Amino acid sequence: MKYRYLGDSGLLVSRICLGTMTYAMKDWGCDLDVARALTRKFVDAGGNFFDTADMYSTGGSEEMLAETISGLDRDDLVLATKCWFRMRPSANAKGLSRKHIMEAAEASLRRLRTDYIDLYQVHGPDPFTRLEEVMRALDDLVRTGKVRYIGCSNFFGWQIAKANGISERMGLEKFVSGQHLYNLLRRDIEREVLPACADQGLGMLCWAPLASGLLTGKYDREKGPSEGTRIGYRAEIDMPRYWSDDSFRIVDECVAIGREHGRSASQVALAWLLHDPRVTAIIAGVRTEAQLEDNLGVSDWDLTDADHERLTNLVGFNLGYPQEWIGLTFWNIGGMEEFARSR
Ligand SMILES: NC(=O)c1ccc[n+]([C@@H]2O[C@H](COP(=O)([O-])OP(=O)(O)OC[C@H]3O[C@@H](n4cnc5c(N)ncnc54)[C@H](OP(=O)(O)O)[C@@H]3O)[C@@H](O)[C@H]2O)c1
Repeated sequence: MKYRYLGDSGLLVSRICLGTMTYAMKDWGCDLDVARALTRKFVDAGGNFFDTADMYSTGGSEEMLAETISGLDRDDLVLATKCWFRMRPSANAKGLSRKHIMEAAEASLRRLRTDYIDLYQVHGPDPFTRLEEVMRALDDLVRTGKVRYIGCSNFFGWQIAKANGISERMGLEKFVSGQHLYNLLRRDIEREVLPACADQGLGMLCWAPLASGLLTGKYDREKGPSEGTRIGYRAEIDMPRYWSDDSFRIVDECVAIGREHGRSASQVALAWLLHDPRVTAIIAGVRTEAQLEDNLGVSDWDLTDADHERLTNLVGFNLGYPQEWIGLTFWNIGGMEEFARSR
């Protein structure tokens, strides 16, 4: 297993993080016996990094994760969880107010049966709460020893820059990670979020790295998603998000590159993400041991630059404006320097 530093922090995490959204998930998840086997296999392969959230199965994922790591040395593990979603129908049981962040962190600590959370992430931006209040509350969790590092998820680039700017000004803890939707079929974050993270010292943790399983190559464009699979269960979300001719062209290329190297399409798609040094880890979500075993194939296997480029350029991805303007006009101010520098 290869390890990477989590953004600007001194914390080393395995470059595969085990996503536990499937733990205790009724429809498309796994039960305790399978979860135990997944955790064991992951740790045996050198994995130390787990991701969960308070809202996954309304606390069930955190509880099941706690059960599967009991008996392991807590200090060898890096546990990440999140708050933001409404947890019960009470006015303040949601969002990022100081009141809810404090309550949610305490509840996660209880469910995870631990004294501290390694990475506490805000699951999304809260338009009703000032970022000053959010960053101060998160800082208090760090100061009181309940949390080691803080991160955000599903933020816009400007919110990331603003949050860390506020922390700089107020002497508070800064975000060291962003957790965002990123895979070969959805590259939206390349426009603003990834550059903001790199500038602000946040490592990227990629959720849905296999596009709900489409990038494994197991779906058939003509037949549609079969029952018992993630896309079958969540067709209303995943079909518009991923199901297109361009997607299947990319999937076919992953299969082809995989064949050339004796690798699976999943491994090729995951390795494409890990090729970018701005990415700290891919969050592998799995339902079975066989799936985990397959995905663990990228614990130390890398894509060549040529294969990476082949996939990157197969279907054009438009960075859009203002990148287009910069591309057209950059010659005006560049060209006379000995070395290019980027700020
Ligand atoms: N921050 C956020 O907003 C957010 C959102 C979503 C997820 N997450 C995190 O990211 C993690 C991963 O997300 P995700 O589950 O959506 O990931 P994903 O990579 O998009 O999909 C995972 C699913 O693909 C299928 N699969 C995975 N590996 C496979 C393999 N080798 N062969 C065949 N099928 C395979 C399995 O579904 P089937 O077996 O049912 O086909 C599995 O449940 C979650 O556990 C969670 O920790 C965060």
